[in-house]
Amino acid sequence: MPETSKRTSLFTESVIRRMTRVANEFGAINLSQGFPDFDPPEALLQAAERAARNGPHQYAITWGAQKFRTALARKQSRFMGLALNPDANFVVTCGSTEAMMAAMMTACNPGDKVIIFSPFYENYVADAILSGVEPIHVPLRPPDFAFDPDELRWAFEQKPKALILCNPSNPSGKVFTREELLFIAALAEEHDTFVITDEVYEHIIYAPAQHTYFASLPGMFDRTISCSSLSKTYSITGWRLGYVIASPRVIDSVRKVHDFLTVGAAAPLQEAAVTGLEMPDSYYADLQTAYTEKRDTFLGYMDRAGLTYTRPEGAYFVLVDISEFGNPSDTAFCEWLAREVGVAAVPGSSFFREPVRHLIRFHFAKRLETLHQAGERLLKLREKAALHGK
Ligand SMILES: Cc1ncc(COP(=O)(O)O)c(C=O)c1O
Repeated sequence: MPETSKRTSLFTESVIRRMTRVANEFGAINLSQGFPDFDPPEALLQAAERAARNGPHQYAITWGAQKFRTALARKQSRFMGLALNPDANFVVTCGSTEAMMAAMMTACNPGDKVIIFSPFYENYVADAILSGVEPIHVPLRPPDFAFDPDELRWAFEQKPKALILCNPSNPSGKVFTREELLFIAALAEEHDTFVITDEVYEHIIYAPAQHTYFASLPGMFDRTISCSSLSKTYSITGWRLGYVIASPRVIDSVRKVHDFLTVGAAAPLQEAAVTGLEMPDSYYADLQTAYTEKRDTFLGYMDRAGLTYTRPEGAYFVLVDISEFGNPSDTAFCEWLAREVGVAAVPGSSFFREPVRHLIRFHFAKRLETLHQAGERLLKLREKAALHGK
């Protein structure tokens, strides 16, 4: 039989999906794969019911249904402080996942280089492999996950075509400061580089941190390809609705890539999601309050358990330092944790380019009740670790 492509042979099984399997095997509370265990807002569920009954059920315009783009442009213009045109600045995609892939293929030719901060969300390297692009990794060093300006400058000197910016960041919970973003902007300008953003956690920010949209920085709109989605903001990861925002010149290419990748996002779900996009500002304030309570509840248990972690400023993940348990492998530690303590986490090494083995990632996009259950189990971690000689 013929060989499958070399490209696919470079992929390994997603560590997160493997940890989900391990969690199921041991009946552990799954704080590895990052999706909510609660329902979307009731108004969205009702809108989905109406759309299932009344349609549309056939293809929408490939770059997004008019109604959806209009509502999205209104919402994003308000939050980004830009005057976005629904007919010129948007492509609606199947989640930010497709948006990022389409952005990468729009910006880069095979053989080009892209800067990817490490730790990174695992899809970026897969996107690079699929589009034949070579990553240049720039470390964000724990515990504060700041970049070294000289290392970033060096990376730009390698003539990258784009930089990938995950802000707020998965897995670190970092929210880039305006000063950091202005530093990146100056380098992008000097080296004529695209900046591809992944801002799926744009509305999950913990005060006093503030999210700055890269595209809204002075002079940056034309070189920014902003990707985001409705997955996290409305707790609808399964609806697969995302988008690209860019200048009309870039959007023209993204439309073509997107058309051939997927034709379009689900038409009835675009129709239903308009209800979410039209929600008042209080919805986003309530979302932040709810996530702040989740974060504080979970971190409260981390404190009581005496664990060391970096306090997330955004998104819904926390990286916990396990070096005191003396385990040489974060993967073995996560398997032990799922089996003996009953909580599943992701080995941090799967997010880093560098050999970082002392961090594990929990996510806390769960009902408070689930977080309390997981927290109570984690309070026993030390005792169990002593018992098992860790
Ligand atoms: C940083 C980041 N980007 C993208 C995604 C996927 O988003 P979507 O559901 O919009 O494809 C995730 C999901 O966990 C994520 O953490």
